Amino acid sequence: MNILDQFKLNGKVAIVTGAGQGIGKRVALGYLQAGAKVVLAALADDNLTTTAAEFEQLFPGCSVAAPCNVTSQTSVDALVAATLEKWGRIDIAVCNAGVVSFNGLEAMPLDEFERIIKVNVSGVFLTAQACAQQMIKQGRGGSVIVTASMSATVINTPQKIGHYCASKAAAKQLAKAMAVEFAQHNIRVNSISPGYIMTELVEPLTDMHALWKPQIPMRRLGTPEELMGLYLYLACDASRYMTGSDLIIDGGFTSV
Ligand SMILES: NC(=O)c1ccc[n+]([C@@H]2O[C@H](COP(=O)([O-])OP(=O)(O)OC[C@H]3O[C@@H](n4cnc5c(N)ncnc54)[C@H](O)[C@@H]3O)[C@@H](O)[C@H]2O)c1
Repeated sequence: MNILDQFKLNGKVAIVTGAGQGIGKRVALGYLQAGAKVVLAALADDNLTTTAAEFEQLFPGCSVAAPCNVTSQTSVDALVAATLEKWGRIDIAVCNAGVVSFNGLEAMPLDEFERIIKVNVSGVFLTAQACAQQMIKQGRGGSVIVTASMSATVINTPQKIGHYCASKAAAKQLAKAMAVEFAQHNIRVNSISPGYIMTELVEPLTDMHALWKPQIPMRRLGTPEELMGLYLYLACDASRYMTGSDLIIDGGFTSV
């Protein structure tokens, strides 16, 4: 098959969590451009409706909003059921929903620690597991992509996000473990570890931008659009022999 044809997603159905804004929104857009049907899963109030309306204009009938809380098994099961009712299959699952808070570990309350772990680790587990179960039933394999972070590899400074770093390291390793277990079903599981990306999460942290730039060899933050190609690569047939990998895309941050 022609190499460019391998990047097409026609006939495939993708679930993208955290798709209301930021990275997830651009991943969903990239998949729509590549020909997939996309279920936009996110907390209802985080721009989900606006994003779904925007995509409906661009690609009528190709995406649907699915309000979902990835920390709830019931909510994730409902997400899978809604996807099957709409399009009858799941080929790609992007476990991208994630949260952060800023606080030192020395005095961090347990509930704050657990809230981050619950979304960033348990949320990935629930979404990936539910989608993989469906992919196994379908018998056609599939691709699961976890949004980890450079924070899975390094501890960022000067902000204090130790719990977030721990959660992303766990998410990265969880993806690898699932890759090993699910390979027999031709379900590939990989993670992507972005560096600082200018999203709704990062934009308001203006004081930090100036402190981060000198730490990044490329001397700038990335944009969510610059991640689209990598998410497409892992979703499509061009990466059909890749599983268990973590791909870092960080302007060189973790190289120094
Ligand atoms: N922006 C960065 O610099 C950066 C860097 C590395 C990794 N990441 C990771 O990328 C992912 C996306 O980050 P972003 O910058 O686009 O963030 P964002 O805050 O702009 O978007 C987060 C999305 O996750 C959804 N979400 C949060 N909690 C949820 C829950 N419980 N259930 C369902 N959806 C939920 C939100 O509704 C939103 O759509 C996160 O996992 C984040 O940790 C971001």
